[in-house]
Amino acid sequence: MDTKKANPVKATNGASKTPATKKSAMQASQLMKLFEDELKDIYWAEKALVKALPKMIKNATSEELAEALSAHLTETEGHVDRVEQVFASFGKKAEAVKCEAMTGLLKESEDIMEECEPGAMCDAGIISAAQKAEHYEIATYGTLRQFAETLGLAKAVTLLEATLIEEKAADVKLTEIAIDAVNVEAAEMEEAK
Ligand SMILES: [Fe+2]
Ligand SMILES: [Fe+2]
Repeated sequence: MDTKKANPVKATNGASKTPATKKSAMQASQLMKLFEDELKDIYWAEKALVKALPKMIKNATSEELAEALSAHLTETEGHVDRVEQVFASFGKKAEAVKCEAMTGLLKESEDIMEECEPGAMCDAGIISAAQKAEHYEIATYGTLRQFAETLGLAKAVTLLEATLIEEKAADVKLTEIAIDAVNVEAAEMEEAK
């Protein structure tokens, strides 16, 4: 809402002033709108990830990477569910709005998979694309949880926190796989000398 368009209340000294209680109510409703918009964005992003992850799993060369992505696909299906529960927790039906950021990140992932041959370098590309998606999710869920806390939406805080923990763990797991892969590559290069 444009605060300039809000109805100011004339104070007794003649200056235009909005009373503190009205101002904080306005801020709460603006924050609620932001919260809902961000929730619609991540709902779309999670559903897009459910569709995109199977191709990344199929293109992964390392079994460890394929397994980690498969496990996160199952978690991601749960994330879609949780976002629906968050909407329900304040009496709304889940709604998705196209997330341009995730669209771009997934396009990047498609390009990587199209250009690479199966092997360690392709896996490195898939890991980098998957981690970019994770970081977007971590940033979004961190913000959403904070908004929910400020708005006093306790149930939403619990749900968002549960997903945030899983996103962070998936990111850590991908980093571990990337480090392992680089170490294996380095050892193989050393042996080939
Ligand atoms: Fe997720
Ligand atoms: Fe994720």
